[in-house]
Amino acid sequence: MSSLPAFWCVIPAAGVGSRMRADRPKQYLRLADKTILEHTLNCFLDHPNLLGVMVSLSVDDPYWPSLPCSQDQRIRRAQGGVERADSVLNALLALEAEGAAADDWVLVHDAARPNLSADDLNRLLHSLAEDPVGGLLAVPARDTLKRAGADGRVAETVDRSVMWQAYTPQMFRLGALRQALQQALAAGQPVTDEASAMELAGQAPRLIEGRADNLKVTRPEDLQWLARIWV
Ligand code: CTP
Ligand code: MG
Repeated sequence: MSSLPAFWCVIPAAGVGSRMRADRPKQYLRLADKTILEHTLNCFLDHPNLLGVMVSLSVDDPYWPSLPCSQDQRIRRAQGGVERADSVLNALLALEAEGAAADDWVLVHDAARPNLSADDLNRLLHSLAEDPVGGLLAVPARDTLKRAGADGRVAETVDRSVMWQAYTPQMFRLGALRQALQQALAAGQPVTDEASAMELAGQAPRLIEGRADNLKVTRPEDLQWLARIWV
């Protein structure tokens, strides 16, 4: 894969997983033989173009040290923050402190998305290698979309043909993304993904179509579904 760019990987893994209602953060729940976080890391670890991984973890995370990958030299840890964007920003700052360059590519990927395919990862890297901004894996909306009114009734049907669901990885240049996140957080703007920070900075990230089964484990049924298809 010599035509693909080298890249850093950032995994925000400092969430509590409240919607899973489990006894631990969802990234530490088991899927087949490993935790979700280990599967997620494995999507990247053996990629020939990987420069290194930075995982953002809660300060009081008792689960990480017991995973074999906590000893892996390719993985560094950063401190998690209050929101996902804070966790990502901390990881980017930690990468910079370790000498990563401003124009290095960074792929940010949710800890709770263990089913990223190698094809999707390589398509993202290949499609954006020469892009001036970067972009993200995304999936075109499949169902008819409704805008809800305050009364819980349909206010209108939205034009589905231009709507996409934002997935991860999201791929941007380290310096530009760090700056965009800092500006968005300083302005108190809500940023639920990296692309929205770049948008607030005036950029238009590219949408790269990915597989719908690269889903984020959010609710118990997501994990049940993944366990059924896992081979
Ligand atoms: N995340 C993080 N730091 C936070 C909040 C979230 O690193 N302060 C991470 C999560 O660990 C997850 C990813 O961001 O890998 C996506 O967030 P989400 O699916 O919302 O996870 P949680 O916030 O843990 O779940 P919930 O919103 O249900 O509490
Ligand atoms: Mg959350």
